[in-house]
This record gives sequence, structure tokens and C-alpha cells, in this order.
Amino acid sequence: MVRNGRVDAPAEERVDFRSDNVSGALPEVLEALVAEGRRRDAAYGEDASSRALTEELAALFEHEVAVLPVATGTAANALALALYTPPWGAVYSHAHAHIQVSECGAPEGYTGGAKLVPLEGGADGKLGPRAVSAAIHREGSVHAVQPAVVSVSQATETGCVYTPAELGALAEVARAHGMAVHVDGARFANALVASGHTPAELTWRAGVDVLAFGATKNGCVLAEALILFQPARARELAFRRKRAGQLLSKQRFSAVQLRAYLAEGRWLRAAQHANEVARRLAAGLEARGVELAAPVHTNQVFPRLNDAEASALRARGAAFYDWPTLGAGVRRLVTAFDTRTEDVDAFLHALPPRVSASV
Ligand SMILES: Cc1ncc(COP(=O)(O)O)c(C=O)c1O
Repeated sequence: MVRNGRVDAPAEERVDFRSDNVSGALPEVLEALVAEGRRRDAAYGEDASSRALTEELAALFEHEVAVLPVATGTAANALALALYTPPWGAVYSHAHAHIQVSECGAPEGYTGGAKLVPLEGGADGKLGPRAVSAAIHREGSVHAVQPAVVSVSQATETGCVYTPAELGALAEVARAHGMAVHVDGARFANALVASGHTPAELTWRAGVDVLAFGATKNGCVLAEALILFQPARARELAFRRKRAGQLLSKQRFSAVQLRAYLAEGRWLRAAQHANEVARRLAAGLEARGVELAAPVHTNQVFPRLNDAEASALRARGAAFYDWPTLGAGVRRLVTAFDTRTEDVDAFLHALPPRVSASV
């Protein structure tokens, strides 16, 4: 095995751009699990590694935080929303947000039936403050759901990144209506390195209250964490997490993964690599006359490929999903920390040459 996200495998098994969830795991994360497997420590988050993780994340985010590891991004999002949304609350997000379309009603379930309000936004997956303001109606009326949370994905489902100013503008609307700001950070590392900002600038300094901090897609194994910038709310969240079946008895195995992930800037290098190979993929596609349906900020590329091209690529071993939400002929290609430049080049090589640039 080669270190730092490099794993040897035959190319035909690797031109797999279906998701960053098809990736392996960082060797250092796996080593941390093996080392922890030789130790004994307290259960249910009372262990030394969980305490150290909280301290390390507080230093990284330059803010006091409460950290509650959970097993999935869906649980992290649904718990965060439940903390800030009464059953009669409204959660505003982009119509394509993961909480809207890919969580099987978990946010509605965990909140006791709050309303998720899908809003139109750009092809970049971003929500704007005007859309949120326009959607708020009958505030104070017992006949309507009441504004509770603005939720954004960072990076968005289309791979784009909110700037601190964009987050700040959303937070301003949120505050004006007594709402909290939730960030679905399943790909927070990719967004962070693409933004050039600090973790603090991209979260609490821009008005974010709670971050679902994803790590699984970027090199961990079943390790996500809720980061609360209002630690006073942690006690309530702890009870909610237990009721949701997400208090992990051997939480220390999650904590050691997250600590190894964060150590020495490993998480940033992993995300940087994923973003770089995505840019290489995007540049190669554009050089071949392929149009992209969304800007490439992070590790997702959305090319418009006709059916013959998609079939030819698949026949040559490439794996990816069709993405009709962004338009006819759009496909989604996702890179990860362990995508090799050879994988990208093999994909580009497998793309049949175009006679004209139009699809
Ligand atoms: C934007 C986004 N949020 C959250 C998640 C977390 O989902 P899961 O519950 O599968 O960990 C994903 C995973 O695909 C995602 O893409």
C-alpha cells in the first residue's frame, strides 16, 4: 500500500466517478483504528480521544465547540435541524439540497414533522437571501409554519462553494427572522480548501450555528460529527442523539479516525487532491469540446455528454451517474482523495472524439 491516499489497483477498477463514497480510506485513519483496537477506554464518548478531538476542533475553528460524532451525514443533518426547528417550524434550503431529496424524510422525522421548504436557486446549488426572504410568509400566524432554519450545503450538491459574504447575507436574513443557520458539510473540506478561507471564516464568523462536519467521503470510515458553535445547546443535542440511536458506545473509534484525519493537515491535502483531479478532468473535457453544466469549484464535474458518448465510456469501464436535475444529457463525475491522475486520463482517453462541439 502506498501512503497519503494512494492505493494500488488495476485502472479498470478505478475509473469510478459515481461518488466520493466509493473511495477507500486514508491509511493513517485505518492505522489509528488498528492502534485503538489494542486499547481499552471509557464508552459513550467519555474517552480521552473524544475529549482530545473536541479540543482540537475548538483550536481549528478558533471557537468553543461541542462535538457530537454520529455515523452518517443524514443523522448529522436531521439532528442539527431538530435542535433548531420546532415541529411547526420551516427549514429553507435549495430545492436540490441533500436534506430535501436524499434523506428519506429523516429531517421531517427527527423534527417531529417540521416543513422543509424547497427554494429555487442557481445551477450552482446555492441559495440566495432574497429567495429565503420571499418564502417567509404569515410570520407569527398560528395558521402557518414559522421560520426556524436556513440550511445550506457547503460545498453544494453541485460542487460549488459559498463565500463568507454569501453565508453572511443568508445569516442576516436568518437572524432578522429568529432563524438558525445550518451547514451540511458532507464536503466541507473540499469547500474549505477551494475557498482559501479559514474554518472560522467559513462558519461561525459568517453566522453559522451548526455544522454537519463530513469526513467519510474524504478518507474516514463511518465518521461524521456535529459541530455546535453554541455549546450550551449540547446537552439537548446529546439527548436527541441518544434517542436517534446515534450515541456510539465505542465512540472513541470515531474520534481516533477524526483525529488522524485532521492531524498534520491530512484532511486538507486529501480534499486539495480531490479538487485538483476534478479540475484536470474538467479541463480535459472542455478541451474536447464538452460543455459543463455547472462551474467546477471542488470535486464534482457535470459534463453534458450525449448517450452515445456515455455508453462508450461505460463500455470502456467508466462508472458515473446520469444527472438529469441539471438538464438533459448531464452526468455527474465525482473525484476523491484517492482518485489518480491516471484515472482521469483514462476517462478522457475513453471519450470518443467529437466531430463537432455540440451534443
Ligand atoms: C450533500 C450531502 N449531504 C449529506 C450526505 C450524507 O449522506 P449519508 O447519510 O449517506 O452519510 C451526502 C452523501 O452523499 C451528501 O452528498
